[in-house]
Amino acid sequence: MVEPLLEVKDLVTYFFTESGIVEALDGINLTVYPKESVGVVGESGCGKTQTAYSILKILAQNGKIMSGQVLYKGQDLVPMSEAEMRRIRGKEIAMIFQDPMTSLNPVMKISDQMIEIIAMHRDVSEEEAREIAIEALTAVGISDAANRIDEYPHKFSGGMRQRILIARALALRPSLLIADEPTTALDVTIQAQVLEIIKEMKEQFNLALMLITHNLGVVAELTDRVHIFYGGRVAEVASTYDIFTRPMHPYTIALLESIPSLDVEKGRLATIPGSVPQLINPPSGCRFHPRCKYAKEKCSKEIPLMEEKEPGRFVACHYWEEVEISDIAEEVIGSHKNKIKQKT
Ligand SMILES: Nc1ncnc2c1ncn2[C@@H]1O[C@H](COP(=O)(O)OP(=O)(O)OP(=O)(O)O)[C@@H](O)[C@H]1O
Ligand code: SF4
Ligand SMILES: [Mg+2]
Repeated sequence: MVEPLLEVKDLVTYFFTESGIVEALDGINLTVYPKESVGVVGESGCGKTQTAYSILKILAQNGKIMSGQVLYKGQDLVPMSEAEMRRIRGKEIAMIFQDPMTSLNPVMKISDQMIEIIAMHRDVSEEEAREIAIEALTAVGISDAANRIDEYPHKFSGGMRQRILIARALALRPSLLIADEPTTALDVTIQAQVLEIIKEMKEQFNLALMLITHNLGVVAELTDRVHIFYGGRVAEVASTYDIFTRPMHPYTIALLESIPSLDVEKGRLATIPGSVPQLINPPSGCRFHPRCKYAKEKCSKEIPLMEEKEPGRFVACHYWEEVEISDIAEEVIGSHKNKIKQKT
């Protein structure tokens, strides 16, 4: 049996604010196997980004990991010192963010933002690092990279900047790339190109990918497995194929009902009736109960535990056996079955 590359276990992360404690992550379990592409999906505020930040320990000042483990290659990152974490970030686990504007320093040349970090992490000379940087930029489709590397970020379009960030991340040869909404800030046509680059790079470098996205179309095309998040917890984990063809959790079904199409361009999350839970004072029991059509008394009293219902299929719902795939969800599934990445 292959050991997971990353195993997040019962992770609890809180934020301390003037209005109270935000229970942002309440027992997140998540695994990524080597070379695997894992989707993390859920509505705004459900804890996707803070899970990534907790893994890398780059939480805001008022945030704290309260308990749980983040096992990377079997080693727990939670108790690690900042100096040790600096060796993990970039070199082992790289992250690209939603907004390529804010991740690049506007007053520094691209070369100055790549070479030093490559030289440091890969233990090569600055000349070698420059070559590596140019090679990486070329690989992500920056033409004339040998000259353009000395330009400033404003000379590049949003899509090109995101490519530069991907190149910078991959030049360090990480084992895991966390991409947090990597295309949301980009034009629709550019989104598809950037996703294609991520896909190509993933294959070329044997990367594992943790892809955080609202976009179910992207998930269908790019991922092997999916973790569905709801209100700071994980509702369902399954292969992408199973999630899209045989969803088990009421929230997953609601998500499917909400998408008109699994096209990359159109497949953003539409609305699900009811509002996302406040995490300062979250609903008791199952956090989905105020919006769930299957909810019964037990749901507001007891937290449903995540259990393996079939090999590789995890669901956190008291009444998962009663759940039926609605006609609308059925329609979405039927019309898009061919787009979904098949089980490998
Ligand atoms: N510094 C902070 N102080 C207080 N609460 C915070 C802080 N940072 C995040 N949160 C809260 O933590 C919860 C999880 O946020 P997170 O950023 O992980 O959401 P997300 O799933 O990434 O959403 P989105 O899709 O909008 O990016 C939210 O309720 C958010 O308001
Ligand atoms: S535990 Fe209850 S409220 Fe939660 S998803 Fe299942 S049926 Fe719905
Ligand atoms: Mg986010």
